[in-house]
Amino acid sequence: MATPASWLQRWDAQQETYLPDREERFEVLVDLVEAVAGPCPRVVDLACGPASFAARILTRLPEAEVVGVDADPVLLALARSTTPSGLTLVDADLREPGWVRKIPAGPYDAVVSTTALHWLNEPDLRQVYAACAALLRSGGLLANGDHLRTSASGRLVELALELDRRRAARHGAGDEDWAAWWTAVRHDPELGDAVAERDRRAFHHPEHSETSREVHERALRIAGFSEVDVLWCKGTDTVLAALR
Ligand SMILES: C[S@@+](CC[C@H](N)C(=O)[O-])C[C@H]1O[C@@H](n2cnc3c(N)ncnc32)[C@H](O)[C@@H]1O
Repeated sequence: MATPASWLQRWDAQQETYLPDREERFEVLVDLVEAVAGPCPRVVDLACGPASFAARILTRLPEAEVVGVDADPVLLALARSTTPSGLTLVDADLREPGWVRKIPAGPYDAVVSTTALHWLNEPDLRQVYAACAALLRSGGLLANGDHLRTSASGRLVELALELDRRRAARHGAGDEDWAAWWTAVRHDPELGDAVAERDRRAFHHPEHSETSREVHERALRIAGFSEVDVLWCKGTDTVLAALR
């Protein structure tokens, strides 16, 4: 019988189909949080989904305080049933300007996000990064792990995409993709209310990201972050970090 823990395991496997280096990226992000804030950081995880990354933070840094934000009722329900203590979940849509008022008061040491901010367009991204700057203490970290394509064109851009394809084909050997996972999870009667609420919200995934790495860098600088740089990258899979 499917359980929240087994759905989470299948979630991680389907994400690795697209992101064969997902665990390494998680490790890099926790390293960054720990390096900036030590063993007891206060962290916000934007668009946390079923809280895979929040769980990685809390496993390595059990004294951490993590706030996970998401707008998908199914993923929040799984996060609620599977995550260890130390995680607070907030149901909020990052596109709504009031989202930040739902977050427990700052300051925070770090705001992180994984494989999610490509869902936002540039105006929403600017609004989100500005709100994050206000949540963070001086010297606090924002770190976004996502597929970030450069807006440049040329052979190297094509080669970065080719690296993504080759690494996914070689290492991302999952049986279930995003669509198959969602089809399966919809049939779990335990999640019936959350699925109905998700349908009511009509929460959709844009096919292609509108935002390049340069759009993120510009939005972070406009939001007042003093330093912005890529600290890890494979193909287009990138950790973009900024200091407040
Ligand atoms: C591919 S999933 C990644 C989830 C998680 N961060 C991970 O790495 O497993 C993208 C997440 O972004 C969330 N999301 C997308 N747009 C959002 C928005 N406007 N507000 C809040 N969450 C959003 C989705 O609900 C989903 O959980």
